[in-house]
Amino acid sequence: MSSVDSARLQEEIDALAEITEVVPPAVTRVLFSAQDLAAREEVKKHCREAGLTLREDAVGNLFARWVGSEPDLPAVATGSHIDAIPNAGRFDGVVGVLGGLEAIRGLQRDGFQPKRSIELITFTSEEPTRFGIGCLGSRLLSGSLSWEKALALADETGRTLDSWLGDTPYAEKDRGAVRLPEDHYHAFVELHIEQGPILENESLDIGAVTHIAAPAAHRLEITGQGGHAGGVLMPARHDALCGASEFVLALESAAKNSGSPDTVATVGVLQVAPGAINSIPARVELTVDLRDIQIATRDKTWKTATEALEKIAAGRGLVTAGSVINEDPPATCDPGLVESIEVAAKSRGCSCRRLISRAYHDSLFLSRIAPTTMIFIPCRNGWSHRPDEFSSPSQIEKGVAVLADVLAKASTS
Ligand code: GLV
Ligand code: MN
Ligand code: MN
Repeated sequence: MSSVDSARLQEEIDALAEITEVVPPAVTRVLFSAQDLAAREEVKKHCREAGLTLREDAVGNLFARWVGSEPDLPAVATGSHIDAIPNAGRFDGVVGVLGGLEAIRGLQRDGFQPKRSIELITFTSEEPTRFGIGCLGSRLLSGSLSWEKALALADETGRTLDSWLGDTPYAEKDRGAVRLPEDHYHAFVELHIEQGPILENESLDIGAVTHIAAPAAHRLEITGQGGHAGGVLMPARHDALCGASEFVLALESAAKNSGSPDTVATVGVLQVAPGAINSIPARVELTVDLRDIQIATRDKTWKTATEALEKIAAGRGLVTAGSVINEDPPATCDPGLVESIEVAAKSRGCSCRRLISRAYHDSLFLSRIAPTTMIFIPCRNGWSHRPDEFSSPSQIEKGVAVLADVLAKASTS
């Protein structure tokens, strides 16, 4: 049974958290920022020290391979992401990358010899911060997004992915080689903090993920009429923000009344133009994040919300326009791998239950080309995407130990 060097892993997690665009302990690492690029270098350094063979693809996905005794067999992979949304914590994604590396190092220390190669993947831009769409690297890798669409993605300043990539070493790489075939991986297993409260509430060590919820995201633009905040009387107004506010509440109500406790809807970005204290909002741009385990309930909720928006706009004399950022189906995890997590947890003396992932992950897309599952560990109060996100060293250690066992088994099967 392989060991986990928990002290070393914690040091590495803490050191990576120092590479941030904001004041620690908050972590912000947006795709292709200086900090995102520096954090990639740090991960590469650790991987080289572990004797892994590195490869980077044309979108910046990083592959670090421990070559097995039968290198032509489809490899077993693990991994996650190191980009971080504004003011996030240090564990989201990072536990799956540095923890995945520690699982490999533990197996190496143990003298384990993999038959199938074991590969650690650090995916580009799991977070949607720069381009509004999450899982950029794993979407391209799994053929879920075309290069044509990807390159045209623009950030809020209008700069495209194509242009951003032009400033990176990835511009030289073969874009055609990013898409991996369906037999490329024998298995993919991602270690991640739960980002929800179930494991902590039930005092459990490990979650074996059976399904990943279906995420959708939309962009809306609501246009009214601007004007002087003193001069235009209330009956004459077509205030875009008042319309947007009504819509936000209509969306909340649609999600609450969807008939399923699993429907969740969030407006996380709202930009008001012209954005002056004494100017009536003429235009609002907002994003909607909508998720459910059932695609039909998610889509019905969106229909209800957009019908409400039409009524709000008609009543207020506003014009609306919308576009889909993504509408992804849910994923079902591989039953054999889920069972393998349960077996490993038991043999390590860890308590375990099956769970659904309500957050999306690169695993959502890897599941389209490989048998996939995720190992969840508890995080304090279920908090994530905030600076006080926390999982303890011993909780992380258990996750890494179970991951090592699952990788070892998959690599010899
Ligand atoms: C991933 O970070 C998500 O928003 O689920
Ligand atoms: Mn996240
Ligand atoms: Mn994550």
